[in-house]
Amino acid sequence: MTEPRKPAATGHGYHLAVMADEIAEYLMIDPAGTYVDATMGGGGHAARIVSMLGEHGALIGLDRDSEAVQRNRATFADDKRVRVEQAEFSRLGEFVPVDSAAGALFDLGVSSRQLDARERGFSFQPGTALDMRMGSQGATAADLLGSWDEWELSSVFRRNADIIEARRLARLILQAVESGAEMNSDLLRKAVEKLPGVRGDNRNQLLARVFQAIRMEVNDEMGQVESGLKAAVAALRKGGRICVLSYHSVEDRKVKETFAEFEKECVCPERQPVCNCGRNHRKLIKILRKPGLPTDAETGRNPRARSAKLRVMERV
Ligand SMILES: C[S@@+](CC[C@H](N)C(=O)[O-])C[C@H]1O[C@@H](n2cnc3c(N)ncnc32)[C@H](O)[C@@H]1O
Repeated sequence: MTEPRKPAATGHGYHLAVMADEIAEYLMIDPAGTYVDATMGGGGHAARIVSMLGEHGALIGLDRDSEAVQRNRATFADDKRVRVEQAEFSRLGEFVPVDSAAGALFDLGVSSRQLDARERGFSFQPGTALDMRMGSQGATAADLLGSWDEWELSSVFRRNADIIEARRLARLILQAVESGAEMNSDLLRKAVEKLPGVRGDNRNQLLARVFQAIRMEVNDEMGQVESGLKAAVAALRKGGRICVLSYHSVEDRKVKETFAEFEKECVCPERQPVCNCGRNHRKLIKILRKPGLPTDAETGRNPRARSAKLRVMERV
């Protein structure tokens, strides 16, 4: 018999798990069920899930970041109910059989550890090389900035971060790239500083959105969200729950749109006058009508929780 676990560690120092109480409440419908943590990160949510599992329960954890995977393998080394895989969550179906999971959690974006570790290249700190890969494969931010033209870069800014000054900003950045400026955080900061009329806090917010837009492209974040959520819905058994934490409007929109497809009863083409599909295609219902938000107490403790939105759905 497996020893009862201590209550969840929250991954302090690496990443503080966001809305962990709410997620535990909505996700953990069956102690004997199999759960998927698609974004293990510092393992805070994973520890909470494991603390609520019975002897026959299981957790399959994924992360694309090898450092996060190593950390979680070490944390859960003695617990046979936990399996940790290094993989993008779009590959979730390779690890979790169809119709088998009682719950799946997606805590999107980057961890505090990834943001703070200078060598990972997500940070605004002066002189940070532009890497931004959550894993270790594929093109870095610097590679992509060296390959995009003005139209491509401005579409990245519009698509991923709703940046209005996208065209002018893209031109300023690519001028700096072409002049041979070093590919680091200073290049992006200086380009933002050159934009007329952007000052103080607005400048910092814009810089954050520039980083966000490029990071999302480097990691194909929107493609991953769509295919990851679809794979998770296929993996859920009836009554199984899916919880998704998103941290900005573009991410949340993608989650909402992907779920909306699974909420439709009718899948006939829009222009077809009469339904002949049987109107029985709904796979998900909302458990929360509006996205859940963190409490003031939580955002006081953890400012990075401020922008979090929690969506919870159930497989029908
Ligand atoms: C916000 S953190 C998760 C924090 C975690 N819930 C905790 O309690 O510490 C997001 C994690 O998801 C991982 N990640 C992001 N996109 C991913 C993807 N497409 N596939 C697998 N892992 C991903 C990141 O590497 C990062 O470790």
